[in-house]
Amino acid sequence: MSADDIKITNDEIVQMARLALAGRQQDVQAFLRRLARRHRVELPGLAAQLTQLLQEAPTRQSPLRREASAPVPVDLESRLQLLRVEERPTLDVEPIWDTSVKRALHQILSERQRDEALLKQGLVPTRSIIFTGLPGVGKTLAARWIARELNCPLLTLDLSAVMSSFLGRTGTNVRHVLDYAKSVHGVLLLDELDSIAKRRDDNTDVGELKRLVTVLLQEIDDWPATGLLLAATNHPDLLDPAVWRRFEMRIEFPMPSEPAVRQAIETFMGPSKASGAWRDVLAVTLRGLSFSDIEREVMLARRAAVTRDIPIEDALGEMVQSRIEPMPRRERGQIAMWLTEAGVSQRQVNELTGVSRDTIRKKTKPGGVDNQEE
Ligand SMILES: Nc1ncnc2c1ncn2[C@@H]1O[C@H](COP(=O)(O)OP(=O)(O)OP(=O)(O)O)[C@@H](O)[C@H]1O
Ligand SMILES: [Mg+2]
Repeated sequence: MSADDIKITNDEIVQMARLALAGRQQDVQAFLRRLARRHRVELPGLAAQLTQLLQEAPTRQSPLRREASAPVPVDLESRLQLLRVEERPTLDVEPIWDTSVKRALHQILSERQRDEALLKQGLVPTRSIIFTGLPGVGKTLAARWIARELNCPLLTLDLSAVMSSFLGRTGTNVRHVLDYAKSVHGVLLLDELDSIAKRRDDNTDVGELKRLVTVLLQEIDDWPATGLLLAATNHPDLLDPAVWRRFEMRIEFPMPSEPAVRQAIETFMGPSKASGAWRDVLAVTLRGLSFSDIEREVMLARRAAVTRDIPIEDALGEMVQSRIEPMPRRERGQIAMWLTEAGVSQRQVNELTGVSRDTIRKKTKPGGVDNQEE
């Protein structure tokens, strides 16, 4: 027996056997690459042999060869690219995560950072995750954030676009994309996953859709741990339960909490000079909106202040008024009360909400009636 035979540990053999027997070819390749690296110094002969094998063996499936050369898949008829590829995603704003979302996202990262420790226990990092939540709460943003934190490429397949543009060729196209994505060690986001389910309503392509769902089920199960498969939907109820169940982790993105609304206002107001009282006014009037709606409202006001050369407070005031005006009287009364509680003067509350100062006084008086006439 040579020294080489002795120094490969039993653990390593068992780990590799486990991956190989599970048919996880790409994970085996990643493992072998790591093995070659780890034993580079004390077993140079073995390391060289493994590297050679990795370079020769690659067939169509090989990440080594395809990563370097494969072009991004296109629809064969229209030649349109099916996938948006970002080598190193960046973010315009730092996301605000709810505590439970934050915990889950950090768990994903730490599993990736400690994948060797997991492997030693016969475990692999979470490979497939589905994000749910209403529009504009950060699902797509979370995929970008994860790719940035992992410092790897983000591939986005927008299923709503693919489903609507390529009709009968969807199945083939999605298969191409999945094959390609598996060969790139990165994050694949299947965005707007419910688009598949929505199409089920029209009967034109039932067979094609069934095939597509079958392909997806298979792929979710077999996704290599070298990559990460994410999906996002704001209609989890529309998804085939079989698809839904396949994902190893589910993260529900809630609407912003009150502190999150405040934090979002801080983020989106940027260097704007509006006083703290204005931030309170905004926190009250933008309550209940998604992050992207808060962003839109604040940005509109900031742009208006610049283009019309008016103080930011005036632009914010107009925005607040236009949001409050169409509300039913009861809601306006409620907002007037919140604003007063937030320390806004009665005169200003009256200007913003149209609720009379008299009513405001009565409402805020201890024991005041909630639904006074204005
Ligand atoms: N948690 C968040 N923190 C900070 N900004 C956010 C957050 N969520 C959303 N935004 C802002 O809203 C924009 C849109 O968010 P995103 O695309 O992630 O929404 P989504 O949940 O994917 O919505 P949809 O279901 O409509 O696709 C982001 O680019 C960002 O500017
Ligand atoms: Mg989205």
